[in-house]
Amino acid sequence: MNLNSQNINSSRKPKNFNNPERFIEGWYWAIPAHELSVGEVKSVNILGRELVIFRGKDRKAVTFDAYCPHMGAHLAEGKVEGNELRCFFHHWKFDGGGFCVDIPCLDKPLPIKLKAWPTGEKYGMIWVWTGEVPLQPLPFVPELEHKESRSAFGSHFFTNCHPHVVLINTIDAQHFNTVHKLVSTIVFAREELHQNAINFTNITPSCEDTLLIKLIRPFYKNSLTYSVCYWYGSIGTATFGPDFLHFHIMFAMRPLAEGKAEIQTLFIVKRYKGMNGWLYNQFVLWLTKIASEYFLKADIKIFQKIKFDLKTPINVDQSIVQFINHLERQNALSWGTWQPARSTRDEEVRENRDKWRDVLND
Ligand code: FES
Ligand SMILES: [Fe+2]
Repeated sequence: MNLNSQNINSSRKPKNFNNPERFIEGWYWAIPAHELSVGEVKSVNILGRELVIFRGKDRKAVTFDAYCPHMGAHLAEGKVEGNELRCFFHHWKFDGGGFCVDIPCLDKPLPIKLKAWPTGEKYGMIWVWTGEVPLQPLPFVPELEHKESRSAFGSHFFTNCHPHVVLINTIDAQHFNTVHKLVSTIVFAREELHQNAINFTNITPSCEDTLLIKLIRPFYKNSLTYSVCYWYGSIGTATFGPDFLHFHIMFAMRPLAEGKAEIQTLFIVKRYKGMNGWLYNQFVLWLTKIASEYFLKADIKIFQKIKFDLKTPINVDQSIVQFINHLERQNALSWGTWQPARSTRDEEVRENRDKWRDVLND
């Protein structure tokens, strides 16, 4: 790619990107796994929907819509019995699939079902899929896909801008020099892993811009490893470091109302066995924390004040435009209802116009 200051096309207004009324169907973090013991039920509100999560004696986390289908009591007041949840109010009971299995004042339960949401656990976090059936695996660090790992929680914080805006920071090539005082040029190759995941990998030939890069130069072959994988536009995993030691940070985000974001960082390492392995893993997790804090400290003030509007993208912003386009191709749901997002009249007109323009250009 030619890295001059040439302007690149950005005529379409995105529908999914940075739009607080929508989110991409996918896995979103709910609560840390250690905060839900066997026999506990907790309430959580994600993406505008009130939910309850409980853990039965089989240790599996189960997520339901929060309100009882009898009279609307909040099920977080209920009681876990075995692998089932009993409502506090009139004691109706629901199994792990959400089916009503007991109504104490009736001989037989009614054939009704609470909405249950696919739930999984990974990297010490409980995740909820926002559609009927998970279409993708739980988010993971690509390099560690088939490896055992250890993880630790980093910072938990809020921003005044949408998760999409926070996430693009990790592929914002210019700011590595201007904000972080690192390399002055960085070029990414992009690869879509599937509809919901896109990977950006640094392919800049080695350069020795700064003292830090000079110091670690003997420890990598061609390009310094730096890659970012995005899931559902709400989770980013960054992998970086010299060839002998890769650090992995996951930025697990969820949109809040009014286009704000709640963020939990997770540090992840390939698991080594035994006591020495555990000690080494702890040391690497600690180093990852230091690196993460170094970057976040410089970036955080941007996230509190920015009013994102990419009016003038230039060639070095190409990865950001690619990320936005990747988001636009994904299934979007509406905030609160979790129903497929519908286009507004203006969007339909624009889509038709673009469609005809594409046809005419063919
Ligand atoms: S409201 Fe839940 S059992 Fe009546
Ligand atoms: Fe940054």
